[in-house]
Amino acid sequence: MADNTIRTRSLGTAVEGIRDQYADGKAAKVWEIFIGDQNSRTKNYKNFLLDLLRKKGCKRILDVACGTGVDSIMLLEEGFDVTSTDASDKMLKYALKARWNRRKVPEFDNWVIEEANWLTLYEDIEQLIGDGFDAVICLGNSFAHMLDSFGDQREQKQAFRNFEKCLKPGGFLLIDHRNYDNIIDTGRTNPKSIYYNSNHMIDIKTSVMYTGGKPALVILDYLIDTTASFGKNEFITENNISEFRLSYYPHRLKVFNSMLVNTFGENAYHEIYGDFKSLNEVENPNFYIHYIEKTL
Ligand SMILES: C[S@@+](CC[C@H](N)C(=O)[O-])C[C@H]1O[C@@H](n2cnc3c(N)ncnc32)[C@H](O)[C@@H]1O
Repeated sequence: MADNTIRTRSLGTAVEGIRDQYADGKAAKVWEIFIGDQNSRTKNYKNFLLDLLRKKGCKRILDVACGTGVDSIMLLEEGFDVTSTDASDKMLKYALKARWNRRKVPEFDNWVIEEANWLTLYEDIEQLIGDGFDAVICLGNSFAHMLDSFGDQREQKQAFRNFEKCLKPGGFLLIDHRNYDNIIDTGRTNPKSIYYNSNHMIDIKTSVMYTGGKPALVILDYLIDTTASFGKNEFITENNISEFRLSYYPHRLKVFNSMLVNTFGENAYHEIYGDFKSLNEVENPNFYIHYIEKTL
């Protein structure tokens, strides 16, 4: 077991206390620095997503963890009709600013951005759903932000149900999570991002916390080099290294799969990728990406 593994039996209150981790605006600011130039998506990721959406004839996309808008902006630029939601107004602020700055471009003028929590997503955007979206995307290790406050994953299941309800029959959900099986086993997180060509990431310090003998929380401290990015900034330390902390629920692949299958049904077509490759091509991926269809 790695040194940075913490065991505790009183995680319940800690988990309860962590709700909007982006509320103070710090993570949003540093996230913008971390992802860097919005055009510098990794080629693998961009090709994977665009090829998939085009192959499936998708037009209307719902990005349920749009954050600062990085994926949504890429999709708008590629001509998709995008609706973007997120629970954090601090993150949405950046997306709203991008929409305003590019409002003369028709796709951006039509870009719908709403504040919505996955737990209430369907009610929050019911009037925007129409016949359902062709695809719902939840990427960037976002879903693992939803912690298991009750110990029975009821909130995760509710969020999955809401994602499914937003899809048209035949539409699909694309959702990812880090390889938490590996993080739990090794106590380490690979800092290389499969999404961004970030020049800023130095390291990710990892802590795994246990409750009742089970891994219940993973805390990632991101160390970001901000030297080249910004001038004086309240969040940046003297040596221009900014550290920010995000907490995640460590999804075991097997458990995540069975929650998805329970929501979408045994007959739903479900495929899993590792770092955007088929699972037999990559031994120990950083990320798992699930594709699951809503049955007709
Ligand atoms: C790590 S950021 C990723 C954002 C974007 N997908 C990206 O790759 O840059 C995770 C996002 O998930 C959002 N989020 C976390 N929990 C949420 C919830 N319960 N409902 C809606 N959004 C949530 C956060 O506000 C945050 O913007």
